[in-house]
Amino acid sequence: MAGKFYITTPIYYVNDKPHIGHAYTTILADVLSRYHRAEGEDVFFLTGLDEHGQKVQQAAEERGIDPKDHCDEMAPRFLELWEKLHISNDDFIRTTEDRHVKVVQDILQIVYDNGDIYEDEYEGLYSVSEERFITEKEAESGDFRDIKKLKEKNYFFKMSSYQQGLIDHINNNPDFIQPEHRKNEVLGFLRNPLGDLCISRPKSRLNWGIDLPFDTNYVTYVWFDALINYVTATGFGANDDSYTKWWPAEYHLIGKDILTTHAVYWPTMLLSAKMPLPKSIFAHGWWLMGDSKMSKSLGNVVNPLDLIEEYGVDPVRYYLMREMVLGQDANFTMESFIRRYNSDLANDFGNLLSRVSKLIEKNFDSVVPDPVENTDAENVIQNAAEKVIASIHTLIEEMKIHDALEETLQFIRGVNKYMEQQAPWKLVKEDKTAAGRVLYTAAEALRIGTLLLEPVMPNRTEIVLETLSVSKRELNWGGLKAGIKLKQHPPLFPRIDVKKEKIEEKEKFINYEDFEKLGLKTAEILTAEKVEGADKLYKLQIKMGNEEQQIVSGIADHYTPEELIGKMVVVVSNLEPATIRGVESKGMLLAASRKKELSLIIVDGKKVESGKKVY
Ligand code: MSP
Repeated sequence: MAGKFYITTPIYYVNDKPHIGHAYTTILADVLSRYHRAEGEDVFFLTGLDEHGQKVQQAAEERGIDPKDHCDEMAPRFLELWEKLHISNDDFIRTTEDRHVKVVQDILQIVYDNGDIYEDEYEGLYSVSEERFITEKEAESGDFRDIKKLKEKNYFFKMSSYQQGLIDHINNNPDFIQPEHRKNEVLGFLRNPLGDLCISRPKSRLNWGIDLPFDTNYVTYVWFDALINYVTATGFGANDDSYTKWWPAEYHLIGKDILTTHAVYWPTMLLSAKMPLPKSIFAHGWWLMGDSKMSKSLGNVVNPLDLIEEYGVDPVRYYLMREMVLGQDANFTMESFIRRYNSDLANDFGNLLSRVSKLIEKNFDSVVPDPVENTDAENVIQNAAEKVIASIHTLIEEMKIHDALEETLQFIRGVNKYMEQQAPWKLVKEDKTAAGRVLYTAAEALRIGTLLLEPVMPNRTEIVLETLSVSKRELNWGGLKAGIKLKQHPPLFPRIDVKKEKIEEKEKFINYEDFEKLGLKTAEILTAEKVEGADKLYKLQIKMGNEEQQIVSGIADHYTPEELIGKMVVVVSNLEPATIRGVESKGMLLAASRKKELSLIIVDGKKVESGKKVY
C-alpha cells in the first residue's frame, strides 16, 4: 500500500512581497508533492504565512496601518503567485488564524505543565533591529544597530534539558537533517552547551503576537509561534484522527539560513511536548545573483513573475529545479536561463514532439501507427525507458531532482538520436511498416518522457499528453494506443531568439587545461562527396597521421570536392560522434564565417603533416 507524504515549506514573512526565495522552496515542495502523488501516495502539502513578530509590526507601522490589515493585504499577493506558479498546496496556513492561535497556546500550556518553562529576569544588551538580546562580543562586532541596555522579566524554555536527547536523535536518525553537511553543522553547534530560549516578549515593547496562556502581559516569541504551524495544519487537538494520520511530516523544506530554528529549537520543543519529531529537515542553498543573495534586504530581487510573464511558468519551474543542486547555492543568470530553455526544452523536448507529430500527420494521416514487432533498435529505446522510470523513482526519493531531470532529458536526447539514425522520413518510402514502428516507438518514448517531466512542468506537458490522447498516467512501455488520432498542438517551447533578447555574451576566460581538452589537429582531406538528400552537406574522409575519420560538414555551398581533396585543414578530432542525416560524423572542421561567406582554416601542408596537435 502506498504511504502518506506530508511536506512543508517555511511560512513566509509578510513584511515584503514574494520573491524568488519564496517561489523556489514552494515550487520544490510542489514538484515533490506531484511526484509522490503520481506514485499513488496520499500527499499533504502545506505552505503559508508567518504573520506575527516585530518585522511584521514594523512593516505595518511604516505603512501607518494595523498589522492585521497589513497581513490581509499581503496574503493575496502570495496566493496569486502560487496560482501563477501552479502550486498544488493542500492547505495555506496563516499564523493569525484562530486554529493556529489555539494550538500554540495548547502546546505552550503542555510545555509549561511539564515544567519546561520558567520565569527569569534578564539584564543585557538588546538589539532593537535584530529584536533579541545580544552578547558583549556581538555588540563589539559592530554588526548590530540600535543597541540598548535592557532589564526585563521573561519566560524561558528549558531547551538545554533536551540537548543530549536531540544529539542522540540526530545520531540515531541519519536522515533527520539533510544534506549531510548540514547535519554536521548542527552537531558542531551542539558541541557547545545549549542555552535556554527566551520565548516571550513583554507587551510593552511588542504586542503583535499570540498571548501566553499563563501570562497575558506577554506575547509569544515569533519563532515559537511560527514553528508550531506545522502541527496546527494537521488538525492537532481536533476531534478526528487527522493529526495522527499526518504528523510527523516526511519533510520540512527550508533555506539554510533557518537551520538552527528548525533543527534545534523545533525538535527540542517537540521533545518537551512529547510529540514525534519530523522525519527529515532538508535545507537547500541560496539563489545568488552575481555573488550576492537575491533577497529583499539587498534590493536586487528578481521577481519570478517577470520571467513567467515572458516565457511561461513551466520554463521557470524547470530552470529552478534543473539548475540548483539541492543543498548547494546556485547562480541565477539570464544567460543560463535562456541556454537551458533553448537546449533542453526547445531543441530536445519540444523538437521531439514536433517531429513525431509532423511525421505521423504527413505519412499516417495523424493516426499513431502499429509498432508490430520491435527490432534491436526499438528494444534499446524500450530498455532505456524502463531504466529511466526506475531511476527517476530512486532519484526523487534521494531528493536529487536536478539529476532526475538530466536523466529524463538524456533519455529524450537518445530518442532524438534514434529518430536521426532510423530516419523514418526516408524509411517510409521503402518500408512503411518499419517507418510506422519507428514513429510509434518515438511517440511512446515521448509519452513516457512527458509523464516523467509532468511534476516539474504540469502545463506544457498537458499539451503533449492531449496531443497523444493520454488519459491514464501509465508508466509502462506500451501504454500508447496504436490507432488513435493525434490532435493538433501549438509549438511546445518556441525558441528564444538570443539576438532579439540582446543578451550580452560576456567574454569568459578558459584555462590552459580547458583548451587542451579540445583535440585540435591537422587533417588531410582524402575524399569529399555529397550526403544524399542534403545539398549543403559533404561526407568527408580525413587522415590524421595513421588514423582516418569520417566527418559530415556543411560546407558544400562553399567548396567543390576538387577544391577540398588534398587540403590540410584543422579539425576538432575528439568531438562527440553524431549521426547527421543518417551518416556517422566524428569531428568537426574549423572554418571562419561571416554571414553567407565561409572560409576553411587551411594549414601549410608542406611544413606540417597531418595528425599534428594544433596549439
Ligand atoms: N518566517 C520565517 C520562516 C518560518 S518557518 C516556521 C522566514 N521567512 S522568510 O520569508 O524570510 O524566508 C523564507 C525562506 O525563503 C527561507 O527558507 C529562506 O532561506 C528563503 N530564501 C530567502 N531568500 C532566498 C534566496 N535568495 N534563495 C533561496 N531561498 C532564500 O524565514
